[in-house]
Amino acid sequence: MTMPTSLCPYRMQVHHIKQETPDVWTLSLFCHDAWPYEAGQHALVSIRNSADTLRAYTISSTPGVSPFITLTVRRINGGAGSQWLTREVKRGDYLWLSAPQGDFTCAAHPAGRYLLLAAGCGVTPIMSMRRWLAKYSPMTDVEVIYCTRSPQDVIFADEWRAFPVTLFAEEGAAQGFIPGRITREHLACIPHLKDRTVMACGPAPWMEFVEEQVKSLGVTRFWKEKFFTPSAAPATSGLKISTLQPVREFYAPVGATLLEAMESNKVAVNAACRAGVCGCCKTKVASGDYTVSSTATLTEQEIADGYVLACSCHPKSDLVLA
Ligand code: FES
Repeated sequence: MTMPTSLCPYRMQVHHIKQETPDVWTLSLFCHDAWPYEAGQHALVSIRNSADTLRAYTISSTPGVSPFITLTVRRINGGAGSQWLTREVKRGDYLWLSAPQGDFTCAAHPAGRYLLLAAGCGVTPIMSMRRWLAKYSPMTDVEVIYCTRSPQDVIFADEWRAFPVTLFAEEGAAQGFIPGRITREHLACIPHLKDRTVMACGPAPWMEFVEEQVKSLGVTRFWKEKFFTPSAAPATSGLKISTLQPVREFYAPVGATLLEAMESNKVAVNAACRAGVCGCCKTKVASGDYTVSSTATLTEQEIADGYVLACSCHPKSDLVLA
């Protein structure tokens, strides 16, 4: 089997697949090559072993602790990657992955006290880091809060019994769960909150909320890993984005990246890392103001010509895309 793209040069075989919740599965993989990674990182997966459809997934396993490399995937309606991984991929099949990526890791943000915040499938890097801290830094003071829809949506439910964790359930809260959503009051009650490094992963609006709250409560070290929600509804107001081929207009809500605005309006765009690393989402802006957080794969000439990485482009005015 040949490598589909140089972005995903590591072939891994599916050892087994475990269903975690009604819509989440963990694929356990083994890799014959050395594939060093850090707890909390993610990797690109070539979907259907193709060159042009790549998706980024958090590595939910923990180096030195987990026997396999694992990807934990929520099945999303219409999601090209998640439908394939959770419906069609079987034990014994091969997947092609990139090198591990990202700095949403304890190694990149060392601390003596952590607050790990997770919502939904955003728990995958949080569990990876929680295991890592237990094994390699057992004296570290770690608080974990995990927000779920309902008790049956708790991912890694058995493993969480081994770690102190505060669980929230929006619906059907059973014993051991706090009913409803996390609030400022809950966050304010966390011991030594100001002294903690806070690492959060979950849907964008939830992360905005917890970031705003903990910062206003005195936290100065906050890191987040956005858990992408491809079903975000198209905005009906905000900055206007126009495309010339075909001619159409749509809106980018304040704070959204160009990629998020394009995807929620079903504008054709490739994306994989969503972190300004792989170059898949290269897009040309004909006019308008924007800032960029990465130009990693672009040449100086491309930047001068108006090319951006859509995942790392933040519109500051109405834009026209070439
Ligand atoms: S999706 Fe990889 S650089 Fe934008």
